[in-house]
Amino acid sequence: MSLDPVEEEIINASKLLSDYIIKVRRDIHSYPELRYEEYRTSKLVEEELVRLGFQVTRAADTGVVGILRVSEGRTLALRADMDALPIQEENDVPYKSRVPGKMHACGHDAHVAMLLGAARVLSSIKGRLRGTVKLIFQPAEEGGAGAKKIVEEGFFDDVNAVFGIHVWSELPSGVIATRKGPMNASSTSFAIKIKGLGGHAAHPELTKDPTVPAVDIYNAIQKVVTRNIDPFTPVVVSTPRIEASKASNVIPDSVEIYGTLRAFDMSVRDRVLSRIEAVVRHYAAAWECEGKLEIVGVPYPPVVNTPELADFVLKVASKIGKTSEAPMSMGAEDFSFYLQKVPGAFIILGTRNESKGIVYPHHHPKFDVDEEVLWMGTALHALLAYNYLVKNSTQV
Ligand code: NI
Repeated sequence: MSLDPVEEEIINASKLLSDYIIKVRRDIHSYPELRYEEYRTSKLVEEELVRLGFQVTRAADTGVVGILRVSEGRTLALRADMDALPIQEENDVPYKSRVPGKMHACGHDAHVAMLLGAARVLSSIKGRLRGTVKLIFQPAEEGGAGAKKIVEEGFFDDVNAVFGIHVWSELPSGVIATRKGPMNASSTSFAIKIKGLGGHAAHPELTKDPTVPAVDIYNAIQKVVTRNIDPFTPVVVSTPRIEASKASNVIPDSVEIYGTLRAFDMSVRDRVLSRIEAVVRHYAAAWECEGKLEIVGVPYPPVVNTPELADFVLKVASKIGKTSEAPMSMGAEDFSFYLQKVPGAFIILGTRNESKGIVYPHHHPKFDVDEEVLWMGTALHALLAYNYLVKNSTQV
């Protein structure tokens, strides 16, 4: 793959920043912050962007947007999410989380570090750029829909395209992947509430035992998927959290079942939701209980990449290393809110390295990333900006 001098400069500068990127990643990793609590992280980001000459604005409560305006022309947004998870880290590493019960177990620490690296590279080649680069350091990807807030606050009103990179533990280290069209499913969290009448477990006839319809509902939901939905259409319904009695001799007053529904097609999602609602209501009524279905939080739409820009990403990425087609995933991403507003592509960078024991999945207490390839994320961000804005073409 041929490189022009600026591309060579971007790649060399990114490699030279490797130690810096790792240092930033470890610093953020040591002090994880949950959604909408990214105060320390956003301060670090803000200070660095100001130092580099970006115009900096606070966004979505605990987010930061850095703008590098070079000239008239197109505006490209590059995104990193910043939040950690409520998980106790089990890695024995020098940069282990210093905050009990909180951990960067999805790699968002690496995302911030890679994009800050890109900020350095882009400011160093500013003279050869055109248009505007907008760096989106977004809060609350993990269930907080931070991306939705960023869009609602108008930060994407003047954006022509957006790219975001997620480190990926299922992909070999250094491989860059994306796909045309649908990539990540929509996600809808829900609660099923069944109200009965509690009492002594020795006298169930005096109660309206809500655990009875709860079990039927739990099983019937899986039948909704197989009986009501086209088998060639991917849908997942999981209901992993069930809250009932705390004692074996107490029939509870109510049972709550919490779950998540994943689908690519929102009309399929709506069909499943309406079937679950009917199942909950009727099964509960059959056992003299009341059942209702509630949506919890903000549903995430599916991530649907713009085909032309997914191709563009793979062509640009091939200047750095290996590429592949990303698999479709039932995992959700609030990057989808950006893609509802502007064209773009979500990208994954492989960080799995079996020889280093870096094999644990995202959201695992032993999750880690192969730091040696993080410079590639920085280089990709900067190469995408240069190719999109300067060559003014997606035909690389
Ligand atoms: Ni994530």
